[in-house]
Amino acid sequence: MATKKIAVLPGDGIGPEIIAEAVKVLDCLRDAYGFQAEMETAPVGGAGYDAYGKPLPDETLKIAQASDAVLLGAVGGPKYDTLDRPLRPEQGLLGLRKALELFANLRPALLYPQLVSASTLKPEVVSGLDLMIVRELTGGIYFGQPRGVRTLPDGEKEGFNTLVYRESEIRRIGIVAFETARKRSKRVCSVDKANVLECTELWRQVMIEVARDYPDVQLSHMYVDNAAMQLVRAPKQFDVMVTENMFGDILSDCAAMLTGSIGMLPSASLNEAQKGMYEPIHGSAPDIAGRGIANPLATILSVAMMLRYSLGAPELAERIEQAVSRTLDDGLRTGDIFVEGCKKVGTAQMGDAVVGHLRAMAK
Ligand code: IPM
Ligand code: MG
Repeated sequence: MATKKIAVLPGDGIGPEIIAEAVKVLDCLRDAYGFQAEMETAPVGGAGYDAYGKPLPDETLKIAQASDAVLLGAVGGPKYDTLDRPLRPEQGLLGLRKALELFANLRPALLYPQLVSASTLKPEVVSGLDLMIVRELTGGIYFGQPRGVRTLPDGEKEGFNTLVYRESEIRRIGIVAFETARKRSKRVCSVDKANVLECTELWRQVMIEVARDYPDVQLSHMYVDNAAMQLVRAPKQFDVMVTENMFGDILSDCAAMLTGSIGMLPSASLNEAQKGMYEPIHGSAPDIAGRGIANPLATILSVAMMLRYSLGAPELAERIEQAVSRTLDDGLRTGDIFVEGCKKVGTAQMGDAVVGHLRAMAK
């Protein structure tokens, strides 16, 4: 296999700590499985601002553009919250998504059986949970124009954002959702607010059109408020959920907690050419940064998604997922997924344990 290029962007907060564990996994794939990857590290988010005065330095974008895949930690931190909006860490992430046209965000919520008791929901509600949120990532209210805060003639300020989607943007994310469902349980639930918002009424119409090409996949529709409720009431009814950018942001945090911890969930953001950026869905967790206690599994599982979707090595993806599962079988837990009777470990110990299983499986 030709050497793959991976841009490694640790970012802020716990980003560098969890990325270090993911890099150990990639090193192990090279040593034990002969998987060749060339990694180049660059700053993004607050780290980009500190180094170059902007959250997405030109050099970082260039490295990301020249790579086969991007592995990202997390961005943001209280130290940057008072900067002007274009300089804030989040703009680094949003800028990368837009520049690389990563319109399709896949956020799987999979409950490892070993973690059933770590969820705040009853075991019977969540055990066996396996759903996929397909979030539109480069459009909608996150990017719509006009936007801003203006002062009205009477002197009062008014803030405004625009929810806007073209048919073609809805169609392409719809196709991703239906293709994804085809490889799973063949059910798509499109989440909208068609009872109030015209833009999502169009969303619903286009989803119905896309569904005509997928007679083997069942399409249903749900309003977003109901979807949030159903996610905590009976989450196992869902297979694939497809939704607008901001709805997907909110619902994916909600879905993450069903699995015990947001520290477990990886994600993939893909463009038309399957080039992707891979990141845990949790944030930079400034409250625990630098203490070596963050859960690295979401980032390690993001490496698995990267191998599956962008680097053409699905068998290695499976190995990583197995190694994570075996590590959980051993009873190792970071604080976020800890329950009585297990062994509490830190970030590096967790990463080392996964690498240990990966090595053992290669023999
Ligand atoms: C996410 C995050 C980002 C988003 C932030 C950090 C800009 O919450 O990836 O879900 O809102 O998309
Ligand atoms: Mg979010």
